[in-house]
Amino acid sequence: MIKKRMGAGLTVAVSIALFAGGCGGSGSTGDGDKSSGGSKSLEVFSWWTSGSESEALQVLQSAFTTAAPGVTFNNAAVSGGGGSNARTVLATRLQGGNPPDSWQLHPDQDLMSAVEDGSVADISDLYTSNGWDTKLPDTVKAMLQKDGKYYAVPVNAHRANVLWTNPAVLKRAGVELTDTSTPADFVADLPKLKAAGVAPVCLGAKDSFAPAQLLEAFILGGVGVDGWTQLLTGKLSFDDAKVRTAVTQFAETLKYVNVDSAVLTWDQAALQVTDGKCAATLMGDWAFGEYLAKGKKDGTDFSHVIFPGTAGLFDYVGDAFAIPAKNAPNADAEKIWLTQLLKPEVQAQFNLKKGSAPVLAGVSLDGYPDYQKDSAAAFQKLPVVSSLAHAQGAPAEFANTYVDAVTSFLGSKNVDGLLKTMTEAQKTQLNS
Ligand code: GAL
Repeated sequence: MIKKRMGAGLTVAVSIALFAGGCGGSGSTGDGDKSSGGSKSLEVFSWWTSGSESEALQVLQSAFTTAAPGVTFNNAAVSGGGGSNARTVLATRLQGGNPPDSWQLHPDQDLMSAVEDGSVADISDLYTSNGWDTKLPDTVKAMLQKDGKYYAVPVNAHRANVLWTNPAVLKRAGVELTDTSTPADFVADLPKLKAAGVAPVCLGAKDSFAPAQLLEAFILGGVGVDGWTQLLTGKLSFDDAKVRTAVTQFAETLKYVNVDSAVLTWDQAALQVTDGKCAATLMGDWAFGEYLAKGKKDGTDFSHVIFPGTAGLFDYVGDAFAIPAKNAPNADAEKIWLTQLLKPEVQAQFNLKKGSAPVLAGVSLDGYPDYQKDSAAAFQKLPVVSSLAHAQGAPAEFANTYVDAVTSFLGSKNVDGLLKTMTEAQKTQLNS
């Protein structure tokens, strides 16, 4: 996230969608408070614009409008996978003192940047009144708090280290990938996949997070959970031999990607797999949601394997919503909105569409596809690490440096250059 500065003098025209009627200010956080009258809207800012993302957002919207029927829901989604465009727009708005009512962000370091720059409100009261404290996993709770105060409401757990495959293409090529395959096995299979007449790997590099996430998967496969944590705290150098191997494997893989990678988005690349143009794509399981939204069938149109070398970990990309600390357009509606997000039935319906796992304990997975049941179980039992490609695992500046370095690498293939850039960034951009 671009660092936001909200100087005291920046009192810009704020949308005055006030809750009129004696709603009593921030104290009235009652669930489904329908007593709120007056001219009202709730502006929710996200980057959910693909088919499955929109459908999932619609579940949240419906829950809100049921709870607050007099309030207009204003969907302020800005397109661009991974939120690169949305984050720029949001930063400008926050800087101008014109925040939306609520916005999407990631838990962990992404949220911490927002807490540090003072843009997000302390919502600990909602955690107390809704008892969320006892219903969320400790790992997730730790990523939502600073100094014991909560600042965002999580809605899901996406797994980033999933390789989506075309089973017919793999069969034709005589390639079998399993949970015990290594990154080296995968790279060794690329020529066989090419010989089957397809692009072995589809990449949607128009979304800069996509190649960054692919390299992340190779690195995780090389260094594991502890190595990843050390890498993001500067205790393991990016110049480590295992990281170098991973970057070299990534470079080799780039020789086998689709020729149109530069112009495809993540979802277009994912659909090239089901179209039989590619053998596989590495993508978070928002791709699973997208496949189902497009009517694709798991097991025939597509399948998956956890990215080679990473079956023992869950590379976590979470989505969460925060509300503004200052210039809140409609504080009461904002709290009603946040209150809906962790209701068990909302969690069940939202995550079903999104391809993710619910974060709340005890949410029914009845009717969920096997992939999502497995992923929900994996989130509970495996070590969880935060994604760097999505700026969840490290401070924004370091994550941006990483994504930019990978973008340059697509052209240069300069392994030494990437390792040098990242080793320098570890020294200057990481909190020690
Ligand atoms: C991620 C987000 C997912 C999905 C993806 C592609 O950052 O966590 O929910 O939307 O971007 O846009």
